[in-house]
Amino acid sequence: MNPYYQDARVTIYHADMFDVLPQLGGIGAVITDPPYSSGGAFRGDRAMSTVAKYVNSDTQVYRPEFAGDNRDQRSFLAWCSLWMNAARCATKPGAVLCSFIDWRQLPTLTDAVQAGGWTWRGLATWWKPGIRMVRGQFSSSAEYVVYATNGPADSDHDGAVQNVFRCAPVASKEHIAEKPADVMQWVCSVVFPGSVVLDPFMGSGATLVAAKAKGHTAIGIEVDERYCEIAARRCSQETLDLGVA
Ligand SMILES: C[S@@+](CC[C@H](N)C(=O)[O-])C[C@H]1O[C@@H](n2cnc3c(N)ncnc32)[C@H](O)[C@@H]1O
Repeated sequence: MNPYYQDARVTIYHADMFDVLPQLGGIGAVITDPPYSSGGAFRGDRAMSTVAKYVNSDTQVYRPEFAGDNRDQRSFLAWCSLWMNAARCATKPGAVLCSFIDWRQLPTLTDAVQAGGWTWRGLATWWKPGIRMVRGQFSSSAEYVVYATNGPADSDHDGAVQNVFRCAPVASKEHIAEKPADVMQWVCSVVFPGSVVLDPFMGSGATLVAAKAKGHTAIGIEVDERYCEIAARRCSQETLDLGVA
């Protein structure tokens, strides 16, 4: 398959990730943020559009919908198990998986990680300050990173990383679910130096930009061409800034 974009450190495919993953190999880390199929306590809430579910119209600028976010619970588990396995088959032994998820879908995602053949090793927490507090309740000011490896972890990697990171969400987003650059660099700290980092749900390319800044090479896959275009623009700008063309 021909890449949508390529430079010395980044390759982007405009495709369904199931069509690309079988063609890849030698991946050192899968760092990703899949559609959560979440966004509400009840089935009807979750079936709404991504804009209705995730955009606060009082404070946020409109961004387009994104794909794949309205599976029911059984198909979400089955689908995650399948992509987790397909992604693992593209990795080297000892490779790392870090997948974002919210509290509602955390139990399902950790089941899928294990069904997909990964060894689940823990959780990290992105703590988002400034999220609205609700009287008498715990706040919902966190997203989670499920951390796993393909078999035994690489014991040569001497990086030690704190599993809680405080960072405000992106204010002016290119994608509804865009992750901040600092958060992605924190997550990339568990990746063995000089790895190939794969994001099969690339969105606006936050993983690729962070991986590149950390000295890795990166591969992104995205089914929606609008986001491929945004990610390619961000990566080519980074190439100029870092002088790594
Ligand atoms: C939660 S968003 C990722 C946002 C990203 N972390 C960022 O910072 O911009 C998930 C992305 O996966 C894409 N996607 C959904 N299903 C896909 C599939 N089968 N293959 C490839 N991309 C897919 C969606 O279009 C969406 O952009």
